[in-house]
Amino acid sequence: MCCIGCRAAAEWIDQLGLADYYRLRSEPALRPAASPNDAASWQHAELDRHLVRELYRVMRPGRIVAVHCKDLVYYRTQRATAGLRDFPGGLIAAHIDAGFDFHSRITIWRCPVREMQKTKSDRLLYKNFRTDGARTGGGLPEYIVVFRKWAPGMEETPPVLHTPGEYPLEAWQHYAQPSYMVEDLWTDTDETDTLNVRIARDEDAEKHLCPMPLDLTERLIRQYTNSGETVYSPFMGVGSEGFVSLRHGRRFIGTELKPSYYRQACKYLDEAERLGPVSDLFAQAAAQ
Ligand SMILES: C[S@@+](CC[C@H](N)C(=O)[O-])C[C@H]1O[C@@H](n2cnc3c(N)ncnc32)[C@H](O)[C@@H]1O
Repeated sequence: MCCIGCRAAAEWIDQLGLADYYRLRSEPALRPAASPNDAASWQHAELDRHLVRELYRVMRPGRIVAVHCKDLVYYRTQRATAGLRDFPGGLIAAHIDAGFDFHSRITIWRCPVREMQKTKSDRLLYKNFRTDGARTGGGLPEYIVVFRKWAPGMEETPPVLHTPGEYPLEAWQHYAQPSYMVEDLWTDTDETDTLNVRIARDEDAEKHLCPMPLDLTERLIRQYTNSGETVYSPFMGVGSEGFVSLRHGRRFIGTELKPSYYRQACKYLDEAERLGPVSDLFAQAAAQ
């Protein structure tokens, strides 16, 4: 095999029982049009199954993967029809196939007015609601889909501990909510509390449009890892997960395709190292 991508494709063909497919084929097969509503028709094209499998291989048994995602919109300009692609569903299928168990899902509320201003989506226009309600949809939430590696050896992985001093019962009751509100309702965080927004303010940096609330990132990292453990972000962007990990005494590995985001992430990671772990600051304050 020339590369890991070819190897993954070959394994996939084999797993589907198609190892003899090319040998037995004498003419091109008819290719039915993919249904946009069929998650399976998207997931192979869009998800890096090789990455998910390798993640499963290298992770400690018992530990967690958390993925930030949403349904994806497709438009009539791209296909003959318009609708939503169930991207979270594809992710869930890919992780289950790789051996993970689907563990939990958090729904992140997003403001439909902001979404309408940002995307000008047909689905959100009051004009359409008045003239043909069938064209309208609603605002799109985001999700954190969470997977756990249930595997032999789990009992040797240290439990993730939370002391009542750090996390009283009320904190857990709040964390256990199935949905996460941003902005004006149960204001847990500000929708603009993201490194991305800080970047947009930086003179020399590009605007990054994948805002993940820092507060929620922090919550997940502290919920699912102990201090000193390693957090990996395969799609690091500008480094939010890394920034929060280092500030909370975790180690961090990140990979990012886009050089400008990678450079920006390095700057934030340097900053986080310079600032040091948050808990150290509390300890210093207590000692004074
Ligand atoms: C949604 S953003 C991540 C945002 C990140 N959590 C943050 O807060 O900055 C996804 C990132 O994945 C990167 N990406 C896409 N494909 C990639 C690949 N194959 N390897 C590494 N990074 C990739 C994109 O450039 C983009 O910056």
